[in-house]
Parts: sequence; C-alpha cells; structure tokens
Amino acid sequence: MRGRDVIPGCTQTGSKAPKQWVQEVAPTHLEKGKGCRVWDVDGNEYVDYPMALGPVILGHNYPAVREAVARQLQDGTMFSMPHPLQVEVAELIVDSVPCAEMVRFGKNGNDATTLAAKLARAHTDRNVIATQGYHGWPDIWTAATEMDRGVPDAVGRMTESFEYDNIESLETIFEDNPGEVAAVVTTPMNLQKPTDDFLERVRELAREEGALLVFDEVLTGFRYALGGAQEYFDVEPDIACFAKGMANGFPISAIAGREDVMRLLERDDVYFSETYAGEAMSLAAAKACIETIREEDVVDHLWRQGETLIEGYNDIAAEFGLSDYTTCEGFGPRSSIQFYDTDGEMNRLAKSLFMQECLQRGILFSGSQLPSYSHDDETVEHTLAVYREAMAELADAIDAGDIESRLNGPPAGTTLRQRTGEHD
Ligand SMILES: Cc1ncc(COP(=O)(O)O)c(C=O)c1O
Repeated sequence: MRGRDVIPGCTQTGSKAPKQWVQEVAPTHLEKGKGCRVWDVDGNEYVDYPMALGPVILGHNYPAVREAVARQLQDGTMFSMPHPLQVEVAELIVDSVPCAEMVRFGKNGNDATTLAAKLARAHTDRNVIATQGYHGWPDIWTAATEMDRGVPDAVGRMTESFEYDNIESLETIFEDNPGEVAAVVTTPMNLQKPTDDFLERVRELAREEGALLVFDEVLTGFRYALGGAQEYFDVEPDIACFAKGMANGFPISAIAGREDVMRLLERDDVYFSETYAGEAMSLAAAKACIETIREEDVVDHLWRQGETLIEGYNDIAAEFGLSDYTTCEGFGPRSSIQFYDTDGEMNRLAKSLFMQECLQRGILFSGSQLPSYSHDDETVEHTLAVYREAMAELADAIDAGDIESRLNGPPAGTTLRQRTGEHD
C-alpha cells in the first residue's frame, strides 16, 4: 500500500486505519459515496454502516446539503470578517438544543470538548476535570487512558476518570478532590441507557459541588433527538459539545451553553480562536443539515431503521444459537455488534470473520451501525439477509474450531474507544 510510505498508520483517524479492518479483504480507501452506499478505488460498491463514524447523518452527497454548499462555493469560502451564516446556524442551535443560550464554532469535536474544559476551569477557578467517555486526542483526555505517552504528568494529575452509570465512582472524585473539580464531562449515553436516574444524579451532584456539567454530544447530538440526548433524557447540562451529525460530514463543531459561561470568551484573558472556524461552506452545510433534521422525519427514521437492525441481528444470532457469542447493543440511532469469547472477552477473530463475510457480500461492516436518513427499508432487509449468511459461516467455524484459518488476511485490531471499554 503506497500510503504506508508517506502517511504514518496510513490514516488521519484511528478508527479508519487499515488495521481496524480485516486486511487484504477490506478496501483501504473509499473514493465516492451516494446515499447509504460507498465505492472503493477499484469500483466495488458497499452499503455503508459506519457512515464516516457518524457525521453523515442524512446520507452521502445528500442533495439539500450539496446544493447549499455548491451555492456557497460560488461566493467564496473564507473571509476576513465573520460570514452572516454563523448567526443563522447559531440561532438554529439555540432554537433546537435545550441548554444552548450562546454558541461558538470549531472544526472538530475535540475543539469543543477541550474548550468546554477550559471554560469550566475559567468559570470555577478550579483545575480538576472529572471525565467519562471518549472526547478526542488532546492531552487532557488521553491523560486518562493508556495512550498517554507524550502527555506531561502534570496534565494527567488534573484528569480523573469515572464510570458511566456508576454515580459512586463520580462521588469518589469529588471526595478525593474537595473544592477542586471544575467540570464533569460525560457522554450522556454510550451503548447503554443510564439507570437509576444516573444523569439526573450527575446533574445534581455537579450543581451541589459547584462544578459545571458538560455533555459531550459529539455523537448523540442531532441523532437521538434534534436537541440531542439532553432533549431525549430531559436533563440539561451547563455546556454541550456537538460535531458529528450537524453538517452531514462537513468539518464543523459547536460548543453551546449557558450565556454567563459562554460570555467568558469575550474576556481578554480567555482565548479560543481558529482561522478555519466559521468557514462558510461548513456553515452552509450545517444550516441545510439541521433544517432537514428539523423539518423531515430524520430522527424517527434513524430510530426505526436502527431498531430493525438490532432486533434482526439478535434474532439471527439466537436462530444460530450464538446469543452468548454475539449481540447487537445500543439503540436505533447508534448500535454496535459485539463478539465475545467463552470468558466474556472481546473476540477479535469472530468479529473479523463476520466482517470478512459481510465485506465479501457488499456490506461495509465495522461493528458500528450508524444508520442515516438514506438507509431505506430494502437496504436494511438486504443487510439482514447478508448478516444471516455471515452468521451461518461464523456458526460453522465455531463448530469446527477453525475461525482463524478461514480469515483471508490479518484480523481487525481495536480502537482506543474499544480499549477504554466502549466496545465499538
Ligand atoms: C463522543 C465524542 N467526543 C469527541 C470526539 C472527538 O471528535 P473529533 O474526532 O471530531 O475531534 C468523538 C469522535 O469520535 C466522539 O465520538
């Protein structure tokens, strides 16, 4: 692969690396997409389920977004003063998202999550960030993971991890760091729903302790509901971060929240500035995308198609007696197919064989299912038919005890998100 000579890891995004797929079976580069389908450089067609890891919520090359971007392209993309679209998109977010009183834009999810931590520190004059979930590559987040090489120890001492749906693990951080926690930064939902009013209790605890509550809605925003998981669960954070799903794949993110906190950015000593934030093409894409989600049946569609895939998959696993080995977890807008070995650990070989069988039948299977508005009934039905064939092969291989020898290339690896317990 030529790319390996000039690009470390041959990717810009961990989960898109060739090593995350069954090598020599999976394509390495995709060059075209339309609706729920993509084409590799050899012209092979696939039904896409990772959908670029979530951003492409309406479908590839979705007409309303393409046309809005094409119109903007005629008029230019970057200017020496803000473009008026920034106000329109900010207003759309304020109208759609419960916690949003003011909005700033960035380019990546981690711009928003890292800025949220900085604003919380500035607002509270405290340093410690209590965190759960994946929030991006910056030091503040990777300090709490096994990928902390290159991160100064001092940064690590300011980041404390807790577990989703485990309020005691968050209480311990407050007990160990009295008066020091600036923010609780959490994904509102992973592959499990919260139990025992977890989100309400996190909300309450943060308020009692004088810390800000930040919801990282990079993945849940505009997907579980127009107003994100905070609308779905009716729990309002102080600050929320958005990116995937807001512009159908164009590079834009947003941090939105309480006016008093957001206005800290007007101070001379609180700095956030990016040359490309507020670039007009992505703002045009965001406007068209959010308006489409607001005006059409997008969110219900994602729930419906996703739930059909989850139920269909789990029925097929049961049919082959493999429910202990593999399950589809999560909820309609985002689910993940997991493979386990007999002691409950992730089974990369079983996943790789299933992936191989799906790829050979034209399904771009990574385990993640992030359906878009373009995944129609016929495609979902076809996908389940392919899943049944792949499951038959897996069942046969488990019986024969020869999964590895059926693989036509090295097995798929794992991502940081999976290694930190999020399994997808
Ligand atoms: C929940 C969540 N937060 C933050 C990020 C980081 O976003 P980005 O990769 O755009 O910086 C991601 C990306 O996968 C994410 O899923």
